[in-house]
Amino acid sequence: MTASDPAADVAWPPAPIRTARLVLRASEARDRAAFVELLASPEVGTFVGGAQPRAELERTMPEVPGRRTGFFAVELDGATIGMTTLDVRDPARPGHIRPERGEHELGYMFLPRAWGRGYATEACAAALAWFAATHPGEPVLLTAQTANTRSVRVAAKLGFTEAARFHEYGAEQWRGVWTPPRH
Ligand SMILES: CC(C)(COP(=O)(O)OP(=O)(O)OC[C@H]1O[C@@H](n2cnc3c(N)ncnc32)[C@H](O)[C@@H]1OP(=O)(O)O)[C@@H](O)C(=O)NCCC(=O)NCCS
Repeated sequence: MTASDPAADVAWPPAPIRTARLVLRASEARDRAAFVELLASPEVGTFVGGAQPRAELERTMPEVPGRRTGFFAVELDGATIGMTTLDVRDPARPGHIRPERGEHELGYMFLPRAWGRGYATEACAAALAWFAATHPGEPVLLTAQTANTRSVRVAAKLGFTEAARFHEYGAEQWRGVWTPPRH
């Protein structure tokens, strides 16, 4: 949580969120091995800066990784398969739509063995529903390399629409925006 978070008083953690097949919950020590596997995976790292050395991850990852507001570990049948995040985007980075205030950005990462089953989209939809309830009226940004077609497909299924394309980290980035449903 940063000072620029427009909803810095959001209660965290919420009760675990159950979807048809998954559970989203605040991270715990038992997620550590799966998160090391995620960040050490060359396949996962293809469009997000590459794999990190496993030995370094084992040494530096906190006992309970990802302990922050908006960070959900995603569980399938009791096993951790990935994570979804809703973080405030660094105002110094390019691609804001409202740079004068904190803007949240959705992130997601799943173990390759869990790809191709709709789990990422299902988990992100639940995270966005939590966000819409706790940050009423706030839009959400999403950035993916244009070449990360799996990720751009997830974004489109969630209802993100293209707002911009820009260059960062030596690659073209797709910027999507999601606006909460009106009731
Ligand atoms: C991006 C990422 C999360 C996408 O995962 P994914 O499994 O492709 O996404 P989904 O959960 O939406 O699954 C979609 C696939 O499941 C299939 N599927 C199978 N059963 C399904 C079901 N019951 N419901 C929905 N979809 C189902 C869909 O047909 C689709 O297949 P397709 O991609 O061949 O069309 C994953 O590739 C990843 O973790 N990548 C590494 C990290 C990364 O790049 N993160 C994004 C940074 S911007």
